[in-house]
Amino acid sequence: MKGLSTFLLGLFVFAIPASATGSAPGNAQQNYQAYCVQCHGLKGNGMGVNIRDMSVQPRDHTDAKSMGGRSDEELFKVIKEGGLAVSKSVLMPAWQGTLSDAEITNLVGYLRQLCKCKFGK
Ligand code: HEC
Repeated sequence: MKGLSTFLLGLFVFAIPASATGSAPGNAQQNYQAYCVQCHGLKGNGMGVNIRDMSVQPRDHTDAKSMGGRSDEELFKVIKEGGLAVSKSVLMPAWQGTLSDAEITNLVGYLRQLCKCKFGK
């Protein structure tokens, strides 16, 4: 009996990370790796392969100080509608044709993990 409950507990522990990183509605980390790292860098630190040729440098998403100055709504808007929509550089593309609102919301959550920050903190 003891063996069985340990086994079930093991299953439970494995089930949590699987669902937390699951695909519904879109895996934020995967989307980030697919669409954002060329500019924002594999680690989100703004050191992507494109930056050599860019006149405006991408945001360092690990910078808690500047990222903490943005509300979730502001981050959502700049991802969805692009830099131009928030009077920032056109070099930050709009993703509304590529990503769903739910995926963008998840990305905002992922950015909060990268910066380890919240709005105002
Ligand atoms: C072609 C390069 C490029 C790609 C790809 C790109 N970005 Fe950006 N991003 C930028 C640049 C450049 C800026 C800075 C704009 C500015 O400061 O005027 C920026 C700024 C941002 C900001 C604004 C930060 C702030 O200070 O308000 C967010 C959020 C952001 N990017 C998220 C993303 C996400 C999420 C993705 C992927 C879905 C992505 N970016 C893909 C170039 C890019």
